Amino acid sequence: MSERATEARSANAVQRCIIPECNSAYGIRERIYVCPRCGGPLEIQCRLESCGDANVLRKQWTDRAGSNDPRDRSGVWRYRELLPFDFDVPVVSLFEGKTPLYDAPRSAEYCGLRSLQVKHLGCNPTGSFKDAGMTTAVTHAALLGARTVVCASTGNTAASLAAYAARAGLQCAIVVPQGQVTSAKLAQSMDYGAAVLEIDGNFDDAMRLVQELADDASIYLANSINPFRVEGQKTVAFELLQQCEWKLPDHVVAPGGNMGNSSALAKGFDELRQLGLIDRLPKLHVIQAEGSAPMARMFAEMEKNRVARDGSVMPDIVPVADPKTLATAIKIGSPISWKKSLRGVLRSGGRVLAASEQEIADAKAIIGRDGIGCEPASATTIAGIRKMVVAGNMGRAESVVAVLTGHILKDPDYVNRYHNGTLSLGSSSPMKGAFANPPERVAANKSAILASIERRNHKSGGVPRAKN
Ligand code: F0G
Repeated sequence: MSERATEARSANAVQRCIIPECNSAYGIRERIYVCPRCGGPLEIQCRLESCGDANVLRKQWTDRAGSNDPRDRSGVWRYRELLPFDFDVPVVSLFEGKTPLYDAPRSAEYCGLRSLQVKHLGCNPTGSFKDAGMTTAVTHAALLGARTVVCASTGNTAASLAAYAARAGLQCAIVVPQGQVTSAKLAQSMDYGAAVLEIDGNFDDAMRLVQELADDASIYLANSINPFRVEGQKTVAFELLQQCEWKLPDHVVAPGGNMGNSSALAKGFDELRQLGLIDRLPKLHVIQAEGSAPMARMFAEMEKNRVARDGSVMPDIVPVADPKTLATAIKIGSPISWKKSLRGVLRSGGRVLAASEQEIADAKAIIGRDGIGCEPASATTIAGIRKMVVAGNMGRAESVVAVLTGHILKDPDYVNRYHNGTLSLGSSSPMKGAFANPPERVAANKSAILASIERRNHKSGGVPRAKN
């Protein structure tokens, strides 16, 4: 099918309320973030029948990998048949996506799996997964003629929005909890020219504030409550399947904070299934940090009470009033997109779990030993996989993909504290890292250095082993 035949993609898409009893639809040029009728979450619905033949699409997407068209150089716009934009819109892009899928043998061994793959979304232009969704949100903001783009953030959304706003020449304001965002993330936002507004309060307070701000007609809200963020983010599912040569993994595991990412992955897999490019869904699991885990708590309650997995009965979430975790990216007590995320998890047969601070920290270090650096929130995935293998929810020979969401350089302070034995949450005593690897002071001569190298070889045998 030619691009011309599907030029008017926007005519085939609506914003639809996901609450079944409401199901209202709105035009895609309406600047709304929740259903004006019932307050429910919105999602973009494209007429997939109009996207063309699945095999033709698959070939077209593969061919684009070698193209120099700016849209094809983006790992998001490459899949434009499934995006609610006309093909000729001016896109705001930093050539996001195209992130690597790595084998992680040491992490696999740590988890008790025969093999494990990690999809490293931290290799995006601003160092986190947010860029895939931000390119579509800021393109939409520019199309609507917004003056100012705004978000609440634990740091990564802010850095990403600041960068894309700068590309688009839009004013940007980010609202962040003071003292709770890593310096690397703040540095990015300042450098990209955003107004950095620090509030007394936590992320959930910031989120409430920006929703109030979004009533103002000149403001465009770029948090993942905005369904145009989810549209770009869902392409990660397409790229992942393409990298797996369309062989579906049994499990996909993502960290959970505000729940936009897991909602988007679920939507992406669902669309591929509707198109016939896959014949079932991978089990989608979401892992939270124990001190900030309202959805994991809710899932445990649902399991205990044997609530049906078809999503027909969804109890309300109980927010965590004072969320705590050293994985600051996911220090969120009241996730805005929990309904979409939980619906996706349940539909796929997945689970929602929580991992402790120690489990997250050791998991982060073992990923490092595979030569792959991620930020703490991303390591919840490896911690969660290990727990699911131990509990018998994941088989040793099954295929598993962990979604890493942020780059190691987003939070080097955490890494240094882990290896130096000073990492602790609040007043608790410092953790003893299973893979702590502190620097050693050595005499400035050859024999002392050789002796140190020799000693280390004897001690570890090269491969670190976790204590069970
Ligand atoms: N991992 C990282 C590195 C993140 O920055 C976030 C969220 C998540 C995981 C969780 O993803 O919210 O879609 O469930 N960061 C947001 C921010 C909240 O403001 O940067 P989620």
